[in-house]
Amino acid sequence: MNKLKVGVVGCGFIAKKRHIPAFLRLKKNVKLSAVCDLNQELAKNVAQEFGIPNVYSDLSDMLSEENLDIVDVCTPPKIHAPVALEAMKSGCNVLLEKPMAPSLSDCDEIVEAYKKYGVKLSVVHNQNFYPTFLKAQKLVDSGVIGKLLGMRVLILTTRDVYIAHEDHWIHKLPGGAIGETGPHAVYMSLAFLKNAADVNVCARRQSDYPWVSYDDYRIELVGENLTSSIYVSHAGDCNASEVDLFGTEGIIKMDLQSMILTHHKREHIKPTSVASSSLSVAGQTLTGVVSNVFNVCFGKTMLGHDIMIEKFVESIIEDKPVPVTPEEGRETIRVMNMIVEKLS
Ligand SMILES: NC(=O)c1ccc[n+]([C@@H]2O[C@H](COP(=O)([O-])OP(=O)(O)OC[C@H]3O[C@@H](n4cnc5c(N)ncnc54)[C@H](O)[C@@H]3O)[C@@H](O)[C@H]2O)c1
Repeated sequence: MNKLKVGVVGCGFIAKKRHIPAFLRLKKNVKLSAVCDLNQELAKNVAQEFGIPNVYSDLSDMLSEENLDIVDVCTPPKIHAPVALEAMKSGCNVLLEKPMAPSLSDCDEIVEAYKKYGVKLSVVHNQNFYPTFLKAQKLVDSGVIGKLLGMRVLILTTRDVYIAHEDHWIHKLPGGAIGETGPHAVYMSLAFLKNAADVNVCARRQSDYPWVSYDDYRIELVGENLTSSIYVSHAGDCNASEVDLFGTEGIIKMDLQSMILTHHKREHIKPTSVASSSLSVAGQTLTGVVSNVFNVCFGKTMLGHDIMIEKFVESIIEDKPVPVTPEEGRETIRVMNMIVEKLS
């Protein structure tokens, strides 16, 4: 079988940190043929760093020269729809970073186009593919914590990543900074919550940057079966990505950054019961740390992007369903729009 030829559009943070390394892991089936960035100097440096042969500053040139199988879109969200549409029109499969696009009408155009051109398109909902998250979904499906009653999502990013930079593109997203991190919280919630119907939002500005309207958001996302309580903040100097699931028979806690999952059941608050559940959590945490150390030492660590990108490549080679459908990408944007409307 010929290797799938991949071209990456946008050579910034996420392309360098996650996408290019994830495609390079798949070199048995994939050839990274080209990179494209408006900033040609950046594109050249990235190509050199990762040994990618061809460099472009214009998408149309890359598409006409390269005969690509996959276009990997790592540009700011505003450019997602035009890049994805042009790539699909050229017959390429498309991997699209989140958020799918800033508006629902852009998402609709993308959905229409993938059907019209008969190509595969998947939106990067990477947090849902962390081994920890996949394990939690299996545990919930097997009934380990009984019936799901609710969930809590916490996402913290440090100020220096986004909001400290006045000219960063995130300030132009619908809703500002929440437009960048909110989609992660929403698609993680939608993995468990059915038919999101309403949202309540309390937003404030905690930092001193005058160009920021809000940097701290509490969101209640109300679904048919449960409510997800989301806290997103860009105002401090800490990073976190945590999800807790509450069921009738127990609790699952996930720390997606340290990739540790613990399962709790504390039926009584008597000291013996508290001590035994604390010991169980300590044991699970220790096992998780040891397994992470092993994976790091033997180069076996798989992040959400690695797993999702591998599944996307498989979906093309084996003609299987994509890991995240365009319709799921659109649903995340529908919910994001409900949140943004509450901000105005
Ligand atoms: N899944 C995640 O965990 C995660 C994390 C960070 C960013 N992202 C997403 O990845 C995307 C990119 O974010 P980033 O932080 O890498 O941004 P970035 O600003 O670091 O990089 C974007 C690059 O795209 C280039 N670009 C812009 N318009 C272009 C065009 N028309 N043609 C070619 N190149 C163009 C820019 O020059 C820049 O180098 C965004 O959608 C963002 O939301 C996802």
